[in-house]
Amino acid sequence: MLTNTLRNAIGVFDSGVGGLSVLRAIRTALPHEHLVYVADSGHAPYGDQSEAYITQRTLNVGNWLAEQGVKGITIACNTATVVAAKALREQTHLPVVAIEPAIKPAVALTRSGVVGVLATRQTVQSAAVARLVELYGADKRILLQACPGWVEQVERADLYSAETEALLRQFITPLLEQGADTLVLGCTHYPFLRDTIARIAGEGVTLIDPAEAVARELARRLADAGRLSGLTEQGHVQFFTSSDMAHAQAVMSHLWDGPLTVQALPSSR
Ligand code: DGL
Repeated sequence: MLTNTLRNAIGVFDSGVGGLSVLRAIRTALPHEHLVYVADSGHAPYGDQSEAYITQRTLNVGNWLAEQGVKGITIACNTATVVAAKALREQTHLPVVAIEPAIKPAVALTRSGVVGVLATRQTVQSAAVARLVELYGADKRILLQACPGWVEQVERADLYSAETEALLRQFITPLLEQGADTLVLGCTHYPFLRDTIARIAGEGVTLIDPAEAVARELARRLADAGRLSGLTEQGHVQFFTSSDMAHAQAVMSHLWDGPLTVQALPSSR
């Protein structure tokens, strides 16, 4: 039954609830598509884990989605992309669209010539990000800032407490002091902290979230492959988690801005 309901949906996954910020953009760009979202919250955060662990989790979840018959996969997790998108692409014939830190648009926008990239530890240390910096950041200063602890706050839906604000300030302030006027939200959990990040950064600072660009790219890829649904009614969205169901249900409903039903990702995954 599960197989039938997920067949021909678009699979979207993240290490946890952060990818809902990407799912939101996909829902807006492709309202007639059925979507299935996997929050691998039982294994979050990925950003402090080894590359081998992140690759294994990405393959477990990505292959599970493929086995359900989805027609395309979106990796809504920068950390999984920079570490393991290549490995997943090698294992599936499906189109895989993957989010990565938006360094290119940030470089085009900065006036001070200093760009801050807020991301997980594994993302800032990755060869993929080093390559983006080399490609686009030649005549700019690109400051890569790991933000340990931010993902955990979003996984608890603790978006506005004094503790969260202090944690945000700790990693944003040094970037501002070095002249950054453009900040890349290089982890899909961070758009849920956007209000506080914007308040700390102040008016002259631009925040960049590539979620809408990813949704456009997904739409383009599916259209090119002749894989759009052709439905005229609203598509349905199904949610899965690898963590505690009651907690996931509460947090994901809060972040999605509406009640939703979460199902368990099979424990073999
Ligand atoms: N949302 C993930 C990202 O975009 C967070 C990774 C993590 O779990 O540390 O990088």
